[in-house]
Amino acid sequence: MSPLRRTVAADGALPARATRPTTASAALKGLRFRLATDPTPISVDGYRERARRALPDMIWSYVDHGSETEDTMRGNREAFSRYRVEARMLGGQPPKTLETEVAGRRVSLPVLLAPTGLTGLSHWTGELGAAHGAERAGTLSILSTSSTWSIEEVAAGTQEDHLFQLYPFSGGDGLRSGSAELMERAQRVGYSALFVTVDVPVIGNREWERLRGMGAPPTITPARAFDAARHVRWTYRYLRHQRVSARNLLDQGGSAAAVESVNRLAGLMNPELNWDDIAWMRDRWPGPFYVKGILHPEDARRAMALGADGVVVSNHGGRQLDQARATLDALPAVAAAVGQQGEVLLDGGVRRGSDVVKALCLGATAVCIGRPFIYGLAVDGADGVRAVLEIFREEIQRTLTLMGVESLEHLGPEWLAPASGPGTLADLPATAVDVLPG
Ligand SMILES: Cc1cc2nc3c(=O)[nH]c(=O)nc-3n(C[C@H](O)[C@H](O)[C@H](O)COP(=O)(O)O)c2cc1C
Repeated sequence: MSPLRRTVAADGALPARATRPTTASAALKGLRFRLATDPTPISVDGYRERARRALPDMIWSYVDHGSETEDTMRGNREAFSRYRVEARMLGGQPPKTLETEVAGRRVSLPVLLAPTGLTGLSHWTGELGAAHGAERAGTLSILSTSSTWSIEEVAAGTQEDHLFQLYPFSGGDGLRSGSAELMERAQRVGYSALFVTVDVPVIGNREWERLRGMGAPPTITPARAFDAARHVRWTYRYLRHQRVSARNLLDQGGSAAAVESVNRLAGLMNPELNWDDIAWMRDRWPGPFYVKGILHPEDARRAMALGADGVVVSNHGGRQLDQARATLDALPAVAAAVGQQGEVLLDGGVRRGSDVVKALCLGATAVCIGRPFIYGLAVDGADGVRAVLEIFREEIQRTLTLMGVESLEHLGPEWLAPASGPGTLADLPATAVDVLPG
């Protein structure tokens, strides 16, 4: 007799008392019990929530906020929601691999870590921990110029040659000397590719940060000190390791050096930077060379004409020019401008595997994540970074399998549709079908 027949009589009457489980333990058999809610987050949003609790308010305002109205920061997310993916049934095999090539290197998934400065504020292992997390997941990280672990420390502490992001600083004796020194240091210790960030001629107006004491210089009040002290683990690590200053510019750790770094970084930004400087950097860097912070197809064309190997479509996660376009909206035209000449990376608002799939459909070679890996780092150091990357891997794999796509190479604009209504992609502003060949 089937279990169903045993518990529901033919006339629908409740089963006799004797057939019900007799003890609570029998009724609850098979379930797992914990005293608290599940400790391990299962999504980037879950890591974000945990990171928010792990970090003092001042630090959270630095990590998770943007400039002025924050429209651009939010817009990066909203742009992903304007698309849906097509789904084809019964025809495909799950993808065998998510491997792809970026900057001449194989990575196990099309997700890299974006450069983020002062990452030691979120977890003392900072950029070194992030690079370890990336390595464990089989991908690469891009080290920021304003990192809390130096170019040399990260090179010595990792297995892989990672990638270096250059803020094109002016040096004491001329516009280019500061950049030349950083490029030589990175080259000497084996960074394989250079990413020159061009969207910070001046620091963006991050009002949220400034109102919470993270201006230049940072300002502590009794309430902020109390809030930091409540985050006991964070405070202990801050006092013990003092990984909070920009170590490529200063040798010292600690608060005084952190304040000095913030002031120096602001002073070194270079509003006079122009395309001749980019050409000069291209000539001096022997390996793959990328321009990060491109939103307009003409700028992409110009970068490629100067010999770049690719561009990063980025608005700095909405931390620089408020009201700049969402990166996903800017992507199709930039991808068309670059064509087969090079690679197009995208960052800004990527929080789900399906976001990665949408970016790849619109012409990206791969994406970079900024805040998501910082959430992982803040929660669990290098292991947290790896866990976030594994969430992306699982989500990409599952999304492609549900869509019926066998390989990343098969993705294209034909796999996308507008989020609402019966229309086609052509109904969306400046979409892939306007600009992508085929
Ligand atoms: C806390 C923080 C620090 C950042 N520092 C840098 C930096 O030093 N250099 C740089 O080129 N971009 C920097 N960025 C921008 C990231 O490289 C990337 O463009 C952005 O984070 C992508 O958006 P997402 O955070 O929504 O993924 C920073 C972003 C954040 C959140």
